[in-house]
Amino acid sequence: MSQGTSSTREIPETGPIPKHIAIIMDGNGRWARKRYLPRMAGHKQGIETVRNVIKSCSDHGVEYLTLFAFSSENWRRPDDEVSFLMQLFAGALEQEISKLHENGIRFKVIGDISRFESKIIQFIQKGEQLTANNSKLTLTVAANYGGRWDILQAMRRLIEKSADLPVHLNEENLAQYLSMYYAPEPDLFIRTGGECRISNFLLWQLAYTELYFTDTLWPDFDEKEFDLAIQSYQQRERRFGQTSEQVQQ
Ligand code: IPE
Ligand code: IPE
Ligand code: MG
Repeated sequence: MSQGTSSTREIPETGPIPKHIAIIMDGNGRWARKRYLPRMAGHKQGIETVRNVIKSCSDHGVEYLTLFAFSSENWRRPDDEVSFLMQLFAGALEQEISKLHENGIRFKVIGDISRFESKIIQFIQKGEQLTANNSKLTLTVAANYGGRWDILQAMRRLIEKSADLPVHLNEENLAQYLSMYYAPEPDLFIRTGGECRISNFLLWQLAYTELYFTDTLWPDFDEKEFDLAIQSYQQRERRFGQTSEQVQQ
């Protein structure tokens, strides 16, 4: 399945390696607490895991990796944690973008970035421009992202662009304005940290995604854990509404 196609409108082509993996990186705070460290130490350690997972995806030939870094609800956390996360994000952007570029990775951000400080917005814009023509792996960071926000902003743009709301409104009319229209829908969703919920991540795009939940905390999610997730994916039968007999034909 490529850009602009939809798992509910046509059955996508699938293979043993997911084309697109979307991850909720959860469990940093608990990882730190287990070690009697401040939560912030867990967030810092989590960046290491991000580096390793990007490498694993490149090595396996995954084409799209989407990471949930900060949700539209994470502003509800204590002020000092929010500002630490912002500093960490700014630092990671400043240090990592050139390395991503050297490795042929295209960098994208989805979410309402207007709420971030201008330094962060500039890093994001510069990073997206610099890496726009890379094609090895597309790394998308979801920052101040919410699935409901995404559907609403798409709806707003659709209404703005159409003189009247199209009478025959279909999926495609709306989907073209979703913030990740450039990517196929995720094949595999991974959530670390033991919670079995979507937490307002890619609500629209996860319609037929295979879901994988692990108790492993994000800072402990190493190459072996990544391989386990891929192995689990390889055992799934993706039916997209069909019967097993049809799929096995
Ligand atoms: C995920 O780890 C990182 C962010 C949400 C930014 P948490 O900070 O949610 O860690 P836990 O769930 O408290 O362990
Ligand atoms: C989801 O994790 C958001 C990110 C990983 C960025 P949370 O830890 O915020 O999710 P809830 O609040 O437990 O659902
Ligand atoms: Mg959490």
